[in-house]
Amino acid sequence: MARELSPHAPAGSTGSTGGWVALVGGGPGSSGLITARGLELLGQADVVVVDALAPRDLLEDLDPRTEVIDASKRRGRHVLSQEEIDALLVDLAHRGKGVVRLKGGDPYVLGRGGEEAAACRAAGVAVEVVPGITSAIAVPAAAGIPVTHRGLSRGFSVITAHADLGVLPQRRDHTLILLMGVSRLRDSVVSLLEAGSDAATPAAIIERGYLPDQRVTTTELRCLADVAARYGVTAPAVIVIGDVVTLSPYWADRVVEEARPASPAA
Ligand SMILES: C[S@@+](CC[C@H](N)C(=O)[O-])C[C@H]1O[C@@H](n2cnc3c(N)ncnc32)[C@H](O)[C@@H]1O
Repeated sequence: MARELSPHAPAGSTGSTGGWVALVGGGPGSSGLITARGLELLGQADVVVVDALAPRDLLEDLDPRTEVIDASKRRGRHVLSQEEIDALLVDLAHRGKGVVRLKGGDPYVLGRGGEEAAACRAAGVAVEVVPGITSAIAVPAAAGIPVTHRGLSRGFSVITAHADLGVLPQRRDHTLILLMGVSRLRDSVVSLLEAGSDAATPAAIIERGYLPDQRVTTTELRCLADVAARYGVTAPAVIVIGDVVTLSPYWADRVVEEARPASPAA
C-alpha cells in the first residue's frame, strides 16, 4: 500500500525504494505564483517532468544536476501520452529518484493530476500533491475580474469547452469560466445561446495570463466568437462569461460587433 507523504515531511524519506513523486501545481504563467511547498520540493528533486503550461522560468533556478524532462515535447516520433507520462513517473520513482511533476495551475483542475496520483499509488509509489493557483480563478483576477462579487455573482462554474455547456445555470449572475475554450468557441457560444443565456451577457478572453504578452479582450456573449476571430485569439486563454466582467478595467474598451446577417448578401 502506497503511503502519502505527510505535509512538510522531507521528501524522499518515504517509499519502498526511496523514490517519490510530487505533483506540484506551478500556478499559471508567472513563476511567482507557486507555493512555498512547491518550491521546496523543486529544490529536492532529482528529476522534474514539466508540462507545457507550467511556469518555465522556474526551471532556470534548478540545481544544474536536476534532470528536466519536457513532457510536452515530441519524444522520438510522438508526444508522450498520458499513459506514458504515468509510466515514466512510476519508473523514475522505482529507480529511487525524487520526481517533481511540475504542472500549470492546479494539478487537480482539468489537469489529469488525479490520474497521475492514482497511477503512482497503484504502483506503490509515495506521492504528494501540492495544490497550485488555478488559472480558472487567477487569470480572470489578472484582468481585474473577481469570479464572485456581492450583488453580481454568488457562484461560478469552471468547465472545459469540450463539455456540455447546456447543463450549466444560464444566468448572468452565475460566472462561467471556460478552459481550453479557444478552438471550440463558436460552438460554445451557440450552445449557451440555445440553452437560454442572455446574448448581451458580458464576456472576457484573457490570453497568456500573467505572461509579459497577456492580452484581455472584452465583449458580449452574442459576438464573442466573431470578436475572438477578428482579434486572432489563441490558446492558452481563459474565457469568462457573466456580469462580473463589467468590474474589469478592460470592460471600458469592450468590442461590440453588429449582429451578422443571417445569410451572406448575394
Ligand atoms: C489542461 S488545462 C490545465 C488547467 C490547469 N490545471 C489550471 O488549474 O490552471 C489548460 C488550460 O488552462 C488555461 N490556462 C492555463 N494557463 C493559462 C494562462 N497562463 N493564461 C491563460 N489561460 C491559461 C487555458 O484555458 C488552457 O487551455
